[in-house]
Amino acid sequence: MHIVDSTKSGGVTLDPWSSRAIKDYKRLMETFGIRGIQEIYPLLDKVGMRKSMHMLRGIVFGHRDLDKVLEAKSRGERVAILTGFMPSGRFHFGHKLTVDQLIYFQRSGFKVFVVIADAEAYAVRRIDREKAVKIGVEEYVANMIALGLDPRETTFYFQTNRGTEYYRLIQLFSGKVTMAEMEAIYGEMSPAKVMAALTQAADILHVELEEYGGFKWVVVPVGIDQDPHIRFSRDLADRFSRELNLVRPASTYHKLQRGLDGDKMSSSRPETTIFLTDPPEVAKAKLMKALTGGRATAEEQRRLGGIPEACTKFDMDLYHVLTRDEELTRIYNDCRRGHILCGECKLYSWERLEKFLQEHQKRLEKAKSMAWKIVEAPKF
Ligand code: TRP
Ligand code: SF4
Repeated sequence: MHIVDSTKSGGVTLDPWSSRAIKDYKRLMETFGIRGIQEIYPLLDKVGMRKSMHMLRGIVFGHRDLDKVLEAKSRGERVAILTGFMPSGRFHFGHKLTVDQLIYFQRSGFKVFVVIADAEAYAVRRIDREKAVKIGVEEYVANMIALGLDPRETTFYFQTNRGTEYYRLIQLFSGKVTMAEMEAIYGEMSPAKVMAALTQAADILHVELEEYGGFKWVVVPVGIDQDPHIRFSRDLADRFSRELNLVRPASTYHKLQRGLDGDKMSSSRPETTIFLTDPPEVAKAKLMKALTGGRATAEEQRRLGGIPEACTKFDMDLYHVLTRDEELTRIYNDCRRGHILCGECKLYSWERLEKFLQEHQKRLEKAKSMAWKIVEAPKF
């Protein structure tokens, strides 16, 4: 068992339910044994995959066992990517980052599974069931389709609707872990959190079973705050490797985009998070108020330059808005050299973001009706 005791890891702890922004990624990687993403570049070449924009920009920075998955792919074995979303709020740019990775892997021949974590939302967040279903379909599934995830090549499912073998897995898992082990990974547990953790492990591992299309290698793209779930699933895969032929899932790690005030991005703080369904005026107002790395006065900024690394507007550029590297580099350098002031810099990004939002929202109407057709929603 490779449990990292969160109380004994040099003061570095990870809590998937906590709300603080994570700053020190290097230290976290060392503490938790996550490997650098650059390591797999030769393997990407080998299987004919380009490097994704987010890898090249240092946003997708780490992995566990992605090398094994790519080796398997090069031997012609089946590979999949799986992630889940709690249907508890609106779909924002933080979610888009994960979906961009699903699309990247999908276009490279990975099967895609998307879990709508309604059981987790009821239990951990006390979200009304009917509301969770509506949010799951109309916010999450619809936005993913509008972003370009191919619905015909994606399995979307609700946790409460997934079938017998999946549930049996949750029960089998429950018999092989102790509270002490779970608390060593997750911190203090409640029955709801135990249920959510076991369910999430089943989400990640059930797609390896015969009943769900037969064995495939699985990658889970997560923010580093979700790593406890990955470690837990990997431990369970080890314990059931003989009995159920489970293999440890792989994972990739991305930086969490900060909210527009520099703190953690979250649906529950709508002023500091741009949603993909925000009307343009609303999105613009948020962007114009974003915390920047600018100086106190225009004179100082021209003299000293700004600090793009400290700028949440620049984060939007880096993660989403300026997809062309030349453009991003130009803004970065203009900022550093004090050739541009924050007001005009924000307007520059806004023009591009506005275009993206308009086009996305046009696609969204069709995607919504498509979403209701392709997802089997729980009927209770
Ligand atoms: N717990 C995740 C969240 O907080 C949702 C989730 C459920 C998930 N099952 C998953 C994520 C499987 C990745 C893989 O949003
Ligand atoms: Fe951010 Fe642009 Fe201001 Fe630099 S000039 S701090 S990138 S808004």
